[in-house]
Amino acid sequence: MTVKVFTVFGVRPEAIKMAPVINELAGRPEFSVSVCVTGQHREMLDQVLRLFKITPRYDLNIMRERQTLPETFSRAVLGLETIFREDRPDIILVHGDTLTTFAASLAAFFNQVPVGHVEAGLRTYDKYSPFPEEMNRKLTGALADVHFAPTATSRANLLREGVLAASIYVTGNTAIDALATTVRQPYAFHDVALKQLPLGGRVLLVEVHRRENWGEPMAAMCLALLDLVAAFPDVQVVFPVHLNPVVREVVLPCLAGQERVHLLDPLDTDDFHNLMARAHLILTDSGGLQEEAPALGVPVLVMRNNTERPEAVEAGTVAVVGTSRRGIVEQATRLLQSTEAYNTMKTAINPYGDGQAARRIAEGLLHHFGLVPARPREWA
Ligand code: UD1
Ligand code: UDP
Repeated sequence: MTVKVFTVFGVRPEAIKMAPVINELAGRPEFSVSVCVTGQHREMLDQVLRLFKITPRYDLNIMRERQTLPETFSRAVLGLETIFREDRPDIILVHGDTLTTFAASLAAFFNQVPVGHVEAGLRTYDKYSPFPEEMNRKLTGALADVHFAPTATSRANLLREGVLAASIYVTGNTAIDALATTVRQPYAFHDVALKQLPLGGRVLLVEVHRRENWGEPMAAMCLALLDLVAAFPDVQVVFPVHLNPVVREVVLPCLAGQERVHLLDPLDTDDFHNLMARAHLILTDSGGLQEEAPALGVPVLVMRNNTERPEAVEAGTVAVVGTSRRGIVEQATRLLQSTEAYNTMKTAINPYGDGQAARRIAEGLLHHFGLVPARPREWA
């Protein structure tokens, strides 16, 4: 028996985290694997497809400028439902918590196609934060038949919600698998703008885009960055700005042309990962960065009010600092002034994986389909 798997994704981080799974499945004769992208992101998705040499079999190309949640969702459901009806897979694999993830799971359900959820079980238990991601992942979890939980914490969340233990595999996060392929020493950046930056001093790497931070909170973050640059003459801010115009219209007017603030377009992931590895400190509202940075020994200040990724907070390498200008400046200042506080956070720990998550996902699928008797040994 060959298991026909469709991996389905649409935005940058999903592509980065699904690439190792696609590779792993493609190398095994028990699977035939195809890639369906919604194109919820366009340029930022294509950057990743190019880097990991992924050629989609289907591309719905749904992105529109300033797309709304309902229109993006409906375009994705309609397109995916047709694909799954006409070219029926044995299972689809979705990732995480985007609109594409939920739309794909629902479209599969309409066709009674099983769903495997990669990066399952992350929760804040706050319906509106992150918005709409918390509900996307809960609803996807409700539709999923197999749950690939990255950590024991995410498995515990699923068990509390009544998910059957037998349907959960604890695998580690595939972000760590991807990092192992991108971070190299020595490494020469290829982005033309990045190559030319005078990156002496301490680099503060910034990435923000979350919907609940649009407007006022994002403006406060930008002002906090200006405060930090003014207070610390050796600090350089490097900020690859998300392509969402709603983000750019806050960030660019506030920060363009400011001394030691370098605004870039989104970087290719190999450049970005290697820049992370060199950064002194990361300030972000991103989910993926909270997983990658601890593996690289770089402290992260999360500019949000909560996180669905508590493992690195508990380990001490990530701190949630809220979204007020004052709070962000205070916490960053503490780390920039006190070597002791900084070194305590800098410890490289890796609660998110050992680079073997994709292998465990493949083995979990083999077990789920009855092709091997044993469950994979779990990531602990
Ligand atoms: C989406 C996901 C979010 C994820 C983020 C990763 C949802 C609801 N949101 O948020 O969970 O953390 O991706 O980055 O699923 N745009 C471009 N080119 C691109 C990408 C985006 O121009 O390559 C612009 C478009 O105008 C688009 C807008 O950004 O309409 C917003 O994109 P969208 O996917 O709706 O939301 P994100 O904030 O990117
Ligand atoms: N990333 C990238 N280029 C950039 C910024 C980020 O490749 O310029 C990568 C980053 O390493 C991580 C992922 O994109 O793997 C995070 O994506 P994002 O923050 O957009 O989404 P989230 O993880 O919050 O869903």
